[in-house]
Amino acid sequence: METETNKLIINGKQKLEGKIKVDKAKNALLPIIAATILCEDDIVLKNVPKLTDIKKMNEIIVALGGKINWTDNSLTLNTSTINNYEIPPKLASEIRSSIFMLGPILAKHKYARVVYPGGCDIGSRPIDLHLSGLKDLNVKILEEHGFIYCDGKNMRNGLVHLDYPSVGATENIMMASVFLRGETTIFNAAKEPEIVDLQNFINSMGGKITGAGSSTIKIKGVKKLHGTTYTPISDRIVAGTYLIATAMTGGKVLLEDCNFEHIYSLITKLRNSGCKIDYDSDKILIEAKYKPLSCPSVETQPYPGFPTDLQAQFLALQTISEGISVITENMFETRFKHVPELLKMGAKITTRDRMAIVRGGKLFGANVVAHDLRGGAALILAGLAAKGQTTISGIQYVDRGYEQIEIKLASLGADIKRE
Ligand code: UD1
Repeated sequence: METETNKLIINGKQKLEGKIKVDKAKNALLPIIAATILCEDDIVLKNVPKLTDIKKMNEIIVALGGKINWTDNSLTLNTSTINNYEIPPKLASEIRSSIFMLGPILAKHKYARVVYPGGCDIGSRPIDLHLSGLKDLNVKILEEHGFIYCDGKNMRNGLVHLDYPSVGATENIMMASVFLRGETTIFNAAKEPEIVDLQNFINSMGGKITGAGSSTIKIKGVKKLHGTTYTPISDRIVAGTYLIATAMTGGKVLLEDCNFEHIYSLITKLRNSGCKIDYDSDKILIEAKYKPLSCPSVETQPYPGFPTDLQAQFLALQTISEGISVITENMFETRFKHVPELLKMGAKITTRDRMAIVRGGKLFGANVVAHDLRGGAALILAGLAAKGQTTISGIQYVDRGYEQIEIKLASLGADIKRE
């Protein structure tokens, strides 16, 4: 339910200057939290941002019978007391990543029951690839009355070929195979950095996974995993969002604790737009002095292509850039919900199917509504670049993936507050 604290008020046209630390990656942490189900010992995750999606995953762990202790950004989980194989439907309907629990619950308990997962409404998000991968491991699956019953008592290692390199399906199959005798191979696996991080996390508990980051991942079965303390990778989408914010407002911002390689597709495009960008192993410095130039064409693609999770923010940048840009969204069919809101701010955009044509111009303040996480971030960036005051409601979506975004932007000089 929407409350007053779900609104941001921005007075635009302030330059961003200064430095901020990038949060740890939500999309790395969600499967990692699910993977803690594979281990009986304490797991300590360092520097975990206080995000709604992470709170919801923790609630599922607790509902299954596990224990969590979250202090000073260090999250300790113990899942040895889990005695339930059914993800509560209400929690599952609130977060798509609940589906990540399926693989580890099956690996540990050989049986699981789930409902179709929920999450941001950015188009149909089927789980057929997750289920067909599990079938390749000899899991019997029955779908009835909205529930998915998975019987893994005859699970065995195998060869899994994904018809599409789905991030979630790759992660689920990796976790499901951890204890299977022999070797399991995933062909056409997704290559996202978060998958490499899941491999590194599982291996830090004694797992034997190789190949993550390439399209073939091999999982050698082990008997047991042990406790670990682990710091996940930084959030490439959060880093990209702050880079685009700087490009839209002008100024100079240093991002600390981030990895330029993970967002090199964006860095190239921002450089072509006229931004100066330097980096070293864990920092990115962006300087944006002039009005940005439009990017003639951008298409979202699986990693290392341009990420769908930065499409909305990049589209917001095009609304104030010089020229015309054509943006194609290849991953999710209804991921243009920010467009009607940007139109209220004076943006010149036409959409057809999965394509948006954006003519650069000027934005002015307006009352707009966030309908999903990244679309909400795009509206915040538009508000920073707009003349006058913008009020954005629906900020609960943004809180799913950005920790205290208004405080971080205000520390860089933005005039932004939550009401
Ligand atoms: C993950 C990210 C999400 C990002 C997306 C694509 C997390 C928690 N979320 O989501 O932020 O936008 O990757 O980079 O890591 N598909 C199927 N059948 C399936 C699974 C997926 O058809 O069984 C389709 C989806 O509908 C979508 C495409 O494959 O069109 C990509 O989905 P996928 O890679 O699975 O994304 P998620 O893991 O859901």
